Amino acid sequence: MKVLMAASECAPLIKTGGLADVVGALPAALSGHGIDCRILLPAYPSLQPLLSDRRQVAQFHDLPGGFGQIVLVTFQGMDLLLLDAPQLFDRPGLPYTDPNGVDWTDNHLRFGALAQAAARVGLDGVDGWQPDIVHAHDWQTALTPVYLKQLGQAAPKSVLTIHNIAFQGRFGPHVMSELGLRGDWFHPEALEYHGDLGFLKGGLMFADRITTVSPTYAHEILTPQYGMGLEGVLQARTGILSGILNGIDTGAWNPADDPALARDYNARSLGRKAESCAKIAERVGLDPDAKGPLFCVISRLTEQKGLDALAAAVPHIVERGGQLALLGSGDPALEQAFVDASHHFSGSVGAVIGYDEAFAHLLQGGSDAILIPSRFEPCGLTQLYGLRYGTLPVVARTGGLADTVVDANVAALRAECATGFVFDDVSKVGIEAALDRVFDCFDDNKKWQMMQRAAMRQSVGWEQSALEYAELYQSLMA
Ligand code: ADP
Ligand code: GLC
Repeated sequence: MKVLMAASECAPLIKTGGLADVVGALPAALSGHGIDCRILLPAYPSLQPLLSDRRQVAQFHDLPGGFGQIVLVTFQGMDLLLLDAPQLFDRPGLPYTDPNGVDWTDNHLRFGALAQAAARVGLDGVDGWQPDIVHAHDWQTALTPVYLKQLGQAAPKSVLTIHNIAFQGRFGPHVMSELGLRGDWFHPEALEYHGDLGFLKGGLMFADRITTVSPTYAHEILTPQYGMGLEGVLQARTGILSGILNGIDTGAWNPADDPALARDYNARSLGRKAESCAKIAERVGLDPDAKGPLFCVISRLTEQKGLDALAAAVPHIVERGGQLALLGSGDPALEQAFVDASHHFSGSVGAVIGYDEAFAHLLQGGSDAILIPSRFEPCGLTQLYGLRYGTLPVVARTGGLADTVVDANVAALRAECATGFVFDDVSKVGIEAALDRVFDCFDDNKKWQMMQRAAMRQSVGWEQSALEYAELYQSLMA
């Protein structure tokens, strides 16, 4: 079976968050099930070096935003189809925003072009390769199922995965014609979303299957609290909606073989985490002789992640003798809050504002616990990396966090299957209460190590989830 993945990010080539990790790892896992994947991505500047080996396999003169060609390249065993349209994608910095952090004003054309290119590759194939299924991810490629239905009679089947329903791609009604979309589809039963064009809304209406990245989030998004206005659309389509948990690339994230760590380790040599801990302390200016637990945060700094509540609980971490090392970027007020905390509690709190893949690995390797107090979390990957590295996740009970972390309650501890700490109340008080449980447990070294080993045993790879995607694709072909 052949599957075209269409996405706006793919690790390690271009990444702003977990979407990239998933798109970068899932195709390899699917190949174990006999599925031949190609990934369609925009040819951003960071991908330009790949173009030296270019082989043009298609050209389109009339995409939204003009001309674009598709070139086939291979990268680390992945077959990539790059949409080379410099007028849309040859821009510095992150994929969605200008250097001032403001959304590019032509994002509808940029990602409309990507979605339309995906549909046209889906319909006509390229280079003798004809996909059976086109799998789109998030709002950026959500128009793919729409274009498939608009442009072809015998279109391949489509799957749309929601990684985060908070981002919906909503644009004024005038862009319908710029995107070449059928005007008679501008109504609430198709593409219209409260008077605008909704990319994600349209995709949800036209896709043959909808998935999201955890079973709990698949339920949550049916409710007003989590559905962000799209709960009604999803309630009408529950028959084709399912949740498939993300996995992680256990090769790229392996404490026994990770060049970013001061020293490799496994479940029998957990003491070696101390060397990475020392390297973290040196990097962010923490007291190297501290005895309490070292907590880390690796995150986009946004409302979603509950880090405003965590910022309020930082004094409590310090009072109880813990340390905090944060790596993140995003909301300037949150960046400032953690920089201020690192000055105020110097030696106990350190903050690196920015994006640093190697430091993210080092933090997982050297910390005792990772804090993820998200208000909502479709899946979350950093808790999975934490489990793999024996860095116990402290998480809010939502979405994929609830599905992947086994709380250290009495029964789970007795059964030796507890892998972290799960709490309900994302507030200063709620986080402090969770932290108190962590501190108490950390004092009992035997219990803590038992949890670390249970965490490292938990299966967090793609095996099971790739099988579920393969079965989903099969069901569409039947
Ligand atoms: P989201 O996609 O909502 O941001 P996930 O937990 O699914 O959340 O994925 C986040 C990914 O981005 C992880 O791979 C994490 O390690 C990485 N990440 C987040 N912030 C940073 C940062 N500042 N530096 C390096 N990696 C980061
Ligand atoms: C989104 C979600 C995150 C998820 C990631 C990959 O960015 O916020 O929870 O892990 O997508 O699916």
